[in-house]
Amino acid sequence: MSFARKDFGDNFNWGVSTAAYQIEGAHDADGKGLSIWDSFSQKKRNILLGENGNEACNFYQKYEEDIALIRQLNIPVYRFSISWSRIFPEGIGKVNSEGIDFYNRLIDCCLAQGLMPWVTLYHWDLPDALQQKGGWVNRSIVQWFSEFVECCINNFGDRVKHWMILNEPMVFTGAGYFLGVHAPGKKGLGNFLAAAHHAALCQAEGGRIVRSLCADAKIGTTFSYSYLEPYRPNLVRDCKATAKVDALINRMFIEPLLGMGYPIKDLAVLNRIERYMKQDDEVNLAFDMDFIGLQNYTRELIKYSPFVPFVNAKIIKASKRNVPYTQMDWEVYPPSIYEALKKFNSYPAIKEIIVTENGVAFKDTLQDGRIEDTDRVNYLKDHIEQVLRAKKEGVKVNGYFVWTLMDNFEWAEGFNPKFGLVHIDFKTQQRIVKDSGKWYAQFLNPSI
Ligand code: BGC
Repeated sequence: MSFARKDFGDNFNWGVSTAAYQIEGAHDADGKGLSIWDSFSQKKRNILLGENGNEACNFYQKYEEDIALIRQLNIPVYRFSISWSRIFPEGIGKVNSEGIDFYNRLIDCCLAQGLMPWVTLYHWDLPDALQQKGGWVNRSIVQWFSEFVECCINNFGDRVKHWMILNEPMVFTGAGYFLGVHAPGKKGLGNFLAAAHHAALCQAEGGRIVRSLCADAKIGTTFSYSYLEPYRPNLVRDCKATAKVDALINRMFIEPLLGMGYPIKDLAVLNRIERYMKQDDEVNLAFDMDFIGLQNYTRELIKYSPFVPFVNAKIIKASKRNVPYTQMDWEVYPPSIYEALKKFNSYPAIKEIIVTENGVAFKDTLQDGRIEDTDRVNYLKDHIEQVLRAKKEGVKVNGYFVWTLMDNFEWAEGFNPKFGLVHIDFKTQQRIVKDSGKWYAQFLNPSI
């Protein structure tokens, strides 16, 4: 390998990311309310093999062991999310002090182990009680979310100095309110556009609240980004289709945040979002974040398709293209992260980029107590090298977090895809560090 940690400089943030519902388990412990993922996963056929996150990695009980593991892997930053329904079982109103206690213990444990906690306020697990009132489709979510954010900052802001407002709004509104394949399983353009607009308002409003309550906090929010190319580059209709998909999946949330408005010019159907806009919204959608979280896993090839409404485009799956691909059927294409970084860097209003997620699901084999996941090691090396390439060209990237610490509940796919640096035996809850975890630990070893 021709690069080392020191090539990134001393101030580069190295981390690992997780999300509450995917690891915590203890779905009804100590006063926690139901979240939309609790109820969505109880319904037959929503999750592959009918699995759910009721127990997951039991991080709720095992967090001390897991924090010690992160420390052992030499990882300085731990990004995790707060479960809204642990704090407010009904979404708003009465605070559950046991939920507050849990995150206090977790944060204190990180700090005692010398880990820097970076906290995501919303990683998709809306309290079910709020979904009963329409969830993200109801504009009152801006007040509900504000109450939650205030409560988190008032309780944890003295020790947590890095906050991310939302995790991938495109994914939770697109999959949850348009396609219906994620919680809460709603479909249709009306649901999607309303949910999307309210999420976009919340990402900016959340930023304003954190800044007003915690002046020394670094504030960001995270976006999914897939590098897109036309399937047939010399066909105009594939190029046009690619531009539309790009506006939808890569630009729809970041551009209003940067004060550029929704990318209506490149995707006409987005003008219907105006229906949900009120006076001053255009201005309120913007907020000056300290950093932007970029989450990239793959590249997608886009083909014109007259049958798909609004975008007239479809994704040609990696498994149909004779390229290496993962358990998620995502192409392994390391330059995608470089392209993603270059694109974000081209927005003048972005001050700093942190890769808040990058990682890969491959099938693992446990043999003699060891997981030799060479393919995952190579994926990480190749992607980190592309981050360095971008950095050397002047891209303002200042952090890289692996997705994810340990195998966990991968949303609609259940426990099948294995993204972890650490393997979990879900029957015994035993943790085994994979070769990829050992590799990351060695790469990060400060004494090398
Ligand atoms: C999400 C994670 C998810 C990962 C892999 C991201 O979209 O933030 O929660 O597990 O991708 O699918």
